[in-house]
Amino acid sequence: MAASPFDHALADHASDVETMLDRLLPRVEGPESRLAEAMRYAALGGGKRFRPFLVTQSARLFGVNSESALRAAAAAECVHIYSLVHDDMPCMDDDEMRHGRPAVHKAFDEATAMLAGDALLTLAFEIVADPATHERARVRIEMVRRLAAAAGARGMVGGQMIDLASEGQPLDIGAITRLQHLKTGALIAFCCEAGAVLGRASADVEKALHAYAHDMGLAYQIADDLLDAEGDPALMGKSTGKDAAAGKATFVSILGADRARAQARMLADQAVQHLDLFDERADLLRQAAHFVITRRN
Ligand code: IPE
Ligand code: IPE
Ligand code: MG
Ligand code: MG
Ligand code: MG
Repeated sequence: MAASPFDHALADHASDVETMLDRLLPRVEGPESRLAEAMRYAALGGGKRFRPFLVTQSARLFGVNSESALRAAAAAECVHIYSLVHDDMPCMDDDEMRHGRPAVHKAFDEATAMLAGDALLTLAFEIVADPATHERARVRIEMVRRLAAAAGARGMVGGQMIDLASEGQPLDIGAITRLQHLKTGALIAFCCEAGAVLGRASADVEKALHAYAHDMGLAYQIADDLLDAEGDPALMGKSTGKDAAAGKATFVSILGADRARAQARMLADQAVQHLDLFDERADLLRQAAHFVITRRN
């Protein structure tokens, strides 16, 4: 399939994010050099950079300068990368491959993977709190507060706990929806709203982005679960069939693939409708909804 303008925009953006991450993750000398190497291995080894794309696109709606937006985008990606490093460890999903190469705990060792994840998470807050991210301290504090809430016990980490606790447990649709909102939706919501915070947008506008993010986050994880069930591991760079093998509760396990796909499509259509109040500057966010449900990796 030929690459669409959206695919090009996402790929161009990914290289900007990588340049920023490269800058934010210098190599170091001395006994801690292994940690810095593991952080760089995790952060610069691929991935769609979809969450940072949401940050920069939402920032674009409000004329936020590109350095601010890209720094906030890189911070969100650091949280995401840390979550994958820990998610792959034997004590969690026990996966050996990520982005088409050995997961961090395989390329290094478990303790280094744990520390690299810890350090990427804390780096995210260092980036957001730096005056280079926004000249106003109040804006930076609000970004820190929101990122912490999205990443923590009432967000992603809480979702990861439910994900593990629910292995082998038949969850109902409400419980699975809540699990996915926390595990994946919370960080995606932070990303979509970050532009509004940096651009000091009105509450109405932020509400629309929140509604968009709510549907996008759920659709994104349903697509991930569908890819786990039916995707091509060579394209995805990670192994498949893991959710069923681990007895994970997902939309696919409860609804079956066809209904899960229909649900993701419905959510993507609904997400686009929430953007009605924005002009053509929101077109890539509109196209992102289509990408989420048609992506193959
Ligand atoms: C994978 O996310 C984990 C989920 C929360 C769905 P991505 O598919 O966005 O990961 P990348 O693109 O490999 O970084
Ligand atoms: C991971 O979800 C969600 C995170 C917060 C890391 P998955 O466990 O389904 O992600 P993959 O399939 O390993 O990428
Ligand atoms: Mg997992
Ligand atoms: Mg996993
Ligand atoms: Mg998965």
